Amino acid sequence: METIVLSIGGSVLLPEDINPYFLKKLGDLLLKLCKKYKLFIVTGGGPIARRYIGVGRKLGFNEETLDELGIAITRVNAKLLSNMMSCSNKIIPSTTDEAKKIDTPIVVMGGTTPGHSTDMVGAELAEKTQATRFIIATNVDGIYDKDPNKYSDARQLGEISIDQLIQNYGTQWSSAGENIVIDGPALDIIKKAGIKTFVVNGKKLGQLEKAINNQPFYGTKIRL
Ligand code: UTP
Repeated sequence: METIVLSIGGSVLLPEDINPYFLKKLGDLLLKLCKKYKLFIVTGGGPIARRYIGVGRKLGFNEETLDELGIAITRVNAKLLSNMMSCSNKIIPSTTDEAKKIDTPIVVMGGTTPGHSTDMVGAELAEKTQATRFIIATNVDGIYDKDPNKYSDARQLGEISIDQLIQNYGTQWSSAGENIVIDGPALDIIKKAGIKTFVVNGKKLGQLEKAINNQPFYGTKIRL
């Protein structure tokens, strides 16, 4: 059975306007897919994490503590998603090594340690579990030539090389709550481990399903 790692943004799972109907549909899709694949899912923190980080920053907390606030929220989100699916773990692992050992068809986790986002956790899991594909589900249609939430003329890219991404964004972690399409430490692992990575809009469940199934999808393929 193939292994798939899915990193799902908090902005997809729990945006400002939380939609339980969407969550139910997502859960149903994952339950269907886990008959074909071993699924590891990493949940992001999204706007709720950024609110905590924003308050902590105003209170003068250091970066590590801000990251820890973010990690805590990603784990709450993991707990929510895992409880929606009967065949998933109910105790959320705090490292990728722990996650790898869990034998339920679906394994859900959040963040691990400060200094990166959950994309890096997903890339690390994909490397450790020798996953066939790493899918990053975000709230836009893949990777753009500039931020589509800021620029109306941003162009969606069907494909981009890992070297170009590293040239554009680097391999370093910038700061807690940073909202970039894929964080630098994740890009580093994707390149070094040669992980087949797709970026797709997780709100469009039809496209997400296609990406997981390795069928043509509207999003971005990262060329290795
Ligand atoms: P996310 O992975 O959610 O980052 O982690 P994000 O870029 O905001 O992604 P979306 O919006 O969910 O798509 C939230 C914050 O938690 C900390 C970081 O500060 C990150 O910005 N974090 C998360 C860690 O320090 N380590 C982790 O393993 C995960």
